[in-house]
Amino acid sequence: MSNKIGEKFQVTTFGSSHGTAIGAVIDGCPANLELNVENIQKELNKRKPGTSSVTTPRKEDDEVQILSGIFEGKTDGTPITGIVFNKNQHSKDYSMFKNTPRPSHGDFGWMAKYGNYDYNGGGRGSGRVTIGHVIAGAIAKKLLKTKGIEIISHVTQIGDIKTGSLTIDEIKENIEKNPIRCGDLDASKEMEELILSKKSEGDSVGGIVETIAYGVPAGLGEPIFERLDGDLAKILMNIGSVKGVEIGLGFGVAQHTGSEINDEYYIEGNDIKTRTNNSGGIIGGMSNGMPIISRIAIKPTPSISKCQNTIDLEKLENKEIEIKGRHDPCICPRVTVVAESSTAIVLADHMIRSGFIQPSKLD
Ligand SMILES: Cc1cc2nc3c(=O)[nH]c(=O)nc-3n(C[C@H](O)[C@H](O)[C@H](O)COP(=O)(O)O)c2cc1C
Repeated sequence: MSNKIGEKFQVTTFGSSHGTAIGAVIDGCPANLELNVENIQKELNKRKPGTSSVTTPRKEDDEVQILSGIFEGKTDGTPITGIVFNKNQHSKDYSMFKNTPRPSHGDFGWMAKYGNYDYNGGGRGSGRVTIGHVIAGAIAKKLLKTKGIEIISHVTQIGDIKTGSLTIDEIKENIEKNPIRCGDLDASKEMEELILSKKSEGDSVGGIVETIAYGVPAGLGEPIFERLDGDLAKILMNIGSVKGVEIGLGFGVAQHTGSEINDEYYIEGNDIKTRTNNSGGIIGGMSNGMPIISRIAIKPTPSISKCQNTIDLEKLENKEIEIKGRHDPCICPRVTVVAESSTAIVLADHMIRSGFIQPSKLD
């Protein structure tokens, strides 16, 4: 089972939903990066449930502790361990899943492949494992910021409700003002209503999260394998519940001609830019200096309280299930910070691999 990602900025995550703790070990972060617990906690707070009307009422403090890798307020070049001790487990809510896989959750895959599956809270197949992504991503984001790179994710669609086109400034200004983490305040109200109506029906709804990384220099990524778009797609698709990844215009390219969507170059001062950014900041597998734009399609939360068909694996018979417990009717708002973190992990790794950041210590 692979629990790690990255070549130079290596991230290993550990722990399960209802186990003792959950977290990440980050190896390869250069020394001398100023880092404290608050830098990580601030990011984890965007992921934790129980903070708004559209998340599960499950209250989890998700307080992080740093066990290693920091000396006198700065990274010291040794592995950084961030850990969150689990506190609010209600394992009895999950005993019904012991031999009964939830439709479209990971339970069946884990049971079939590993046999010994911790079904409590979904074990390590739970969305809670993304705490590890966010711990590592917070460090990656801080590292990238030293080179002027920033990353922002926002919800652009819930069900069939979509945002209009938005500037970075609008997104930055608005996402903290609504529980959806959407850059369009009008659309966010409709999205909230839709989520709450699905919640009242015991159902769930999916959506789209867009991520924009700006300030990325040209030349990250490799042209054949280890392409930047390939590595981004891999880490984003590795987030539980993601069923599609697009870079730039994505699937939209299929319905256009070259003359309509080619990104034409121009010179602005000392910079080489493109007039459009349909490539999403990546051409030939390498960044071209334009903002890197990805979108992920997130399926509706699989655990719903409506009656569904499933099976009893012990008795080998069909049965019905109504899932109790505390689940988000829509996980998109909480996935925004996971997408930001995942993008940051890949960019930090490629910044070190391409020599834009020195591996031993920050200059
Ligand atoms: C941040 C986050 C929170 C999640 N919360 C839940 C949840 O409360 N209930 C649930 O059934 N699935 C939840 N999921 C989704 C499951 O983890 C995911 O659907 C499951 O692992 C199946 O994987 P797949 O959809 O990628 O195939 C969450 C995912 C993420 C990323």
